[in-house]
Amino acid sequence: MAATVPQTDMVTVTIDGIDVQVPKGTLLVEAAKAIHRDVPVYCYHEKLGPAGLCRICLVEIDGMPKLQIACNTPVADGMKVHTTNPRVDDGRRAILEFFLLNHPLDCPICDKGGECDLQDYAMAYGQGASRMVEGKLPKPKAVDLGPTIVLDEERCIVCLRCVRFDDVITREQSLRTDDRGAHTIIATASGKPYVSDFTGNVTELCPVGALTSKTYRFRSRPWDNHRTTTSCTQCAVGCRMHVDERANTLLRTMGVQEDDAVSDSWLCDRGRYNVGFVADERRITQPLLKRDGEWVQVDWSDAIATWAAALKRAGTKAGVIGGGRLLNEEAYLVAHVHRALGIENLDHRVGAQTVVHHDGFASFVDLESANTIITLGRPPSQLAPVLDLRIRKAVARHGARLISVGDHAANSFVPETRATTADELRAALGGELGRVAQIWDGVMIPDGPALTAPMHDLPNASRVDRYILPEDPNGRGADALGLRPVNGGLTTRAMLEAARDGKLHVLALLGANPMLRFPNRALAEAALRATPFVVVTELFMTESAQLADLILPVCSAFEKTGTTTNLAGEILAVTASVRAPNEVIADGDAIVLIAEALGIALPGVAAMEHAIRELVRTPPAFAPDAAPGAAATIPSGALRVVRETTIFTGGGTLAHDDRIAQLRTAPRATLHPDSARALGLVPGDVVSAVAEDASLPGLAVVIDPRVPAGAVALVDGIAAAPLNTLGTAAVVKLEKALVTA
Ligand code: SF4
Ligand code: SF4
Ligand code: FES
Repeated sequence: MAATVPQTDMVTVTIDGIDVQVPKGTLLVEAAKAIHRDVPVYCYHEKLGPAGLCRICLVEIDGMPKLQIACNTPVADGMKVHTTNPRVDDGRRAILEFFLLNHPLDCPICDKGGECDLQDYAMAYGQGASRMVEGKLPKPKAVDLGPTIVLDEERCIVCLRCVRFDDVITREQSLRTDDRGAHTIIATASGKPYVSDFTGNVTELCPVGALTSKTYRFRSRPWDNHRTTTSCTQCAVGCRMHVDERANTLLRTMGVQEDDAVSDSWLCDRGRYNVGFVADERRITQPLLKRDGEWVQVDWSDAIATWAAALKRAGTKAGVIGGGRLLNEEAYLVAHVHRALGIENLDHRVGAQTVVHHDGFASFVDLESANTIITLGRPPSQLAPVLDLRIRKAVARHGARLISVGDHAANSFVPETRATTADELRAALGGELGRVAQIWDGVMIPDGPALTAPMHDLPNASRVDRYILPEDPNGRGADALGLRPVNGGLTTRAMLEAARDGKLHVLALLGANPMLRFPNRALAEAALRATPFVVVTELFMTESAQLADLILPVCSAFEKTGTTTNLAGEILAVTASVRAPNEVIADGDAIVLIAEALGIALPGVAAMEHAIRELVRTPPAFAPDAAPGAAATIPSGALRVVRETTIFTGGGTLAHDDRIAQLRTAPRATLHPDSARALGLVPGDVVSAVAEDASLPGLAVVIDPRVPAGAVALVDGIAAAPLNTLGTAAVVKLEKALVTA
């Protein structure tokens, strides 16, 4: 709820003859918005604040001899402002003339044409013809700034929005200006490529066509695009996003500036760029049934009849793994239909078997105002990237304390205190804590209760909010809506063990790929091979789909409509933006078909929506798996395994978009400098991680002091080097690969 501003803190200004009341201190540019007067801006941006660089926002204020900039002038009571009149327009025309001195006449071939602020303001205030007789200053065009962005230096108007985003929002400070005056160019501080998990935002912030995304360049014109607004479903934040398509081809995704509550208007590069898979020609577009070891195409009625017959034969010896990638409605129907059949083996947790709590409804905005932020487990910067920008904001803007507990650094580009023992954590939690936010990846760790004991009783905290990062985008929704093993049902691990032992006759993998994500690949493989009937709903022929008996081709989240639940427990709308290929239907539709085939009554839409709202709000209690025991002893020469995740891992959608191949995380073994020294390893060496009965080759050595000494961080979920081939090994040895000529 918006805070009520006391009347004494309000001032009245007159803008273009209209009185407007705004809080004291409001910038003129924002006050003008209140009466729908758009003052032109370049360097100013609502989320970046004023910079006062470009002067395009000139306005006239009665009593002031010179025109003033609206972006950096706070309102004062009784102020009379003119956002447009001949004097103001003349001032803007003069400013624009400077901008256009060296700007190329690129509009017909510029990606920004049609949505460019320079083009628009030149039309509104410019003088139409140039008075310049000298030639324009040439600068490099199509400069490769990094894996995602191209820079056209001639088009840059040096508004510095990109540099300031990288400074005040991400705190990464990798962009800067080089040279002076008309020769100023945008460059990276390191001279190396611009690499960050948030690069795409600068293309949106850039008011001209200087920064463009490689995935969108020259692909369309804005007036040809059709826009839908939906929620990103690639992690459990659920950022609002615009999706632009043309002729049913998904072209780009963009942030939603008004989405203060969830995304704060930003997108991470996974959400922005991992979209090309939708049109990938490797998509499965027809149900596939395995006959005599060969895939044959079947129609939907045969596919559903086969699945229904298998369920009838299996009785309650069936199970469902997955659902955290489905929409709320789909997850609800999956649970409803299977429970109607008496099947209680339902578990959405495919990977780390995380705990999903429902004991709080703190919002993302609440996180931003926390005084103490404690992260435990794999960091939000990798599991919920845009959420991490709120952490950076809290630390940088009001000095929140950031404490990372255990093996993983928060990695948030702001100062943090590491606590790897209970004593260190106790020391870090000294003094007044104010509002505390605890963020956990839900993974039970050896010795976890002893390590984290000091953060459970916080008498010096005024309030404690908990955020649990589910392993799948809709993990919280799937959990609340019934895809979890209650009433004696089996967990994913127990289902795979039962299946391996011949005790389950049907396994449904719904948007799930345990062969890549379940911690023990050998168990997953044995289970899928031993189960008489495995049905998979998928977009691509994943490692798990290859072992199935029936593959049902289903929609991506861009092709269906419904809702998802983010990690804060908010129900968010998902809206289809492109049509799925023929013969591809939503998981939910497949479940409706199976219900019809088995004669199971389904709730009506209104009843289902009501049930979803209630269940998400008040999910039943659920006892998590027991915590793992004590930490393993480390034999001499071996290293403890720390499992890490990056935003660019995963085998389904990410592996099926070659445009972003450069973004995929390469297999690596990351070591503390002391561990590397002890083992005689240097960056770039290639090693195998060797466990008792398995090995993972082809890992490039990376040195990082944030990894604990005596440990090696290995990335989970890389299709080219699946960590789960090592099973649940807690320790490995690293063997250097032999270099051959
Ligand atoms: S590249 Fe774009 S955002 Fe960056 S300074 Fe130039 S015009 Fe501004
Ligand atoms: S933070 Fe998550 S929801 Fe937001 S854009 Fe990135 S992947 Fe999508
Ligand atoms: S927008 Fe006001 S000075 Fe740039």
